[in-house]
Amino acid sequence: MAPIPQGGTVAVTGSAGFIGGWLVRQLLDEGYRVRACVRDTNDDAKVSFLKEMPGYASGRLTLHSANLDEAGCFDEIFKGCQGVAHLSHVSSYDDMDYVKMVCDHVIKSVNESETVNRVVVTSSIAAVMSETDTQELVRRPVLFEDRYPDEQNPNRQTNRGQGYSMGKVLAERAFADAAEESGRWDAITCCPGDNVGPILSAHQKNFGPWQHHIETMLLGKYSQNVMGAYRAWFTVDVRDVAEAHIRMLESVNVYNGERFIAWSTETRDVEDICASIDRLLPELGFAGAELVDPLPDKVKAKEAEFRAIWRGCELRNDRIREALDMEFRPLDVSIRDCVESLISVGKVAPVKKPGF
Ligand SMILES: NC(=O)c1ccc[n+]([C@@H]2O[C@H](COP(=O)([O-])OP(=O)(O)OC[C@H]3O[C@@H](n4cnc5c(N)ncnc54)[C@H](OP(=O)(O)O)[C@@H]3O)[C@@H](O)[C@H]2O)c1
Repeated sequence: MAPIPQGGTVAVTGSAGFIGGWLVRQLLDEGYRVRACVRDTNDDAKVSFLKEMPGYASGRLTLHSANLDEAGCFDEIFKGCQGVAHLSHVSSYDDMDYVKMVCDHVIKSVNESETVNRVVVTSSIAAVMSETDTQELVRRPVLFEDRYPDEQNPNRQTNRGQGYSMGKVLAERAFADAAEESGRWDAITCCPGDNVGPILSAHQKNFGPWQHHIETMLLGKYSQNVMGAYRAWFTVDVRDVAEAHIRMLESVNVYNGERFIAWSTETRDVEDICASIDRLLPELGFAGAELVDPLPDKVKAKEAEFRAIWRGCELRNDRIREALDMEFRPLDVSIRDCVESLISVGKVAPVKKPGF
């Protein structure tokens, strides 16, 4: 199937979000026309950063209100687009019938556009490695694109915290199957790691988990990682994830149903992320922060075991580096830029050492 043409038109769902905002900006920088889909184009707290982009002034960037819960919401927006980057979250990951329904909404609009050649579906590393039984990570510790969580485990249920992972796997397959059936477009999946990097708008500090954790560190109290008990952050810079989406839209080396993990393979424990702030920005006078551990006692008792399991995982990104020629920023750069943006864009006031 065809990649998108240089300078073509790309619709981005979830454009007001952390990754979506960067994707819009980088698509514009690379010469594309962008239709930014947000839930409410009048919600200036979320979208004014998009309206301030130079492409908006000329009309190369346009904003569109669409709630993917409503059938047909993208019908008019996708007409005339060659590419769609489907980044938005869904309203809930607790109900797989609902997740399938919203996939069908997007798919129907892609089919009816008659112009879209390629869709990049944003999934997650949760669709690669989220296990109800952590011993599965000991049995299959290599984290690469052909790995899926153990779908036969009877505890892989929404009420056991697996809804996000299940919904992402469902969406990957729904789009690949629909693309195959259409014969006109293809669907490529991007599975990003833990996104760290600069926010573009103050509201983005409130949602994405990782920049929000760094905000809490700056404010003096942060939490042990509960999304995978005692798991180190498996990181990637948000700007690299945006770039990966663009390369997936442009590439002639990808095929329908293929998935790429976007992470640098650099990992760091949450305590060391916090300690990095003073090391990277001594001028800030950051006083450091208190770590709280909200995990239940029975999980705390197994801390050493969990840490060893995570340390035994082998993170791979050969496929994305080879097929898409991707390189990844060092985590230190992502942390530094995240902190500076939280202060300058998010107006976060860090706790300071005496004298600063
Ligand atoms: N951040 C990470 O570390 C990470 C890691 C792995 C995968 N991902 C995936 O990457 C994608 C983007 O993540 P992000 O961190 O950029 O998320 P984010 O900042 O929370 O942005 C997600 C966007 O989804 C939109 N959205 C939610 N429900 C919607 C609905 N019913 N209809 C239309 N739009 C809806 C929101 O739009 P409005 O703001 O307009 O309301 C929001 O801006 C997600 O699919 C996420 O699962 C993220």
